[in-house]
Amino acid sequence: MTSDTFTACLTRIVDDLAEQGWSLQPAFVPQALTLQLAEECRKRDAEGALTPAGVGRGGALQVREGVRGDHIQWLEPGQSAASDQYLQRLDELRLALNQGLYLGLEDFEGHFALYPPGAFYQKHVDRFRDDDRRTVSAVFYLNADWQAEQGGALRLYLNDGSTRDVLPQAGTLLLFLSADLPHEVLPASRERLSLTGWFRRRGEQPL
Ligand code: OGA
Ligand code: MN
Repeated sequence: MTSDTFTACLTRIVDDLAEQGWSLQPAFVPQALTLQLAEECRKRDAEGALTPAGVGRGGALQVREGVRGDHIQWLEPGQSAASDQYLQRLDELRLALNQGLYLGLEDFEGHFALYPPGAFYQKHVDRFRDDDRRTVSAVFYLNADWQAEQGGALRLYLNDGSTRDVLPQAGTLLLFLSADLPHEVLPASRERLSLTGWFRRRGEQPL
């Protein structure tokens, strides 16, 4: 992917978010990087680094497999060349969102996620009730040759009352406003890998 193509992709994302509150990009990073990220997610899983994800935050965090059944590991800078390259692209996206939409995004938090066959994540909104920093959700999918019959779609509940199903196809980046769009992950017949995260703005901190 040339830098021109990437710049055009950033512009489309800014326009989509302004117009409809969500954006779907089928090839956000070069295919070679997507493959490396998928391999890395599987390697982290094989090493036992992914652990059952929780619901809620801070002291209220609980593992509830009837709500969400994915296994995750948080991304930190310096874990691998591939994940650093991905974080670098997301930082360029963060700056484009701030420039185009004045969102005041300060940072990004994200994790690898693996849904074993049959796992799901019930309908929810990404912004926490007690912490309004999460502003734009970014889900990047890592699954080659995903077929609709395999399930595993991310179902978005749009503001006009319609729904939109997004297949977790390798290379696809889905973005949406974290406070606005409820969504759920439907169960799949095969393992489902992704990199999921949130651009955050500054919180209301007592001085
Ligand atoms: C989440 C989430 C969507 C997906 O982790 O909050 O909604 O498609 N993930 O994996
Ligand atoms: Mn979510």
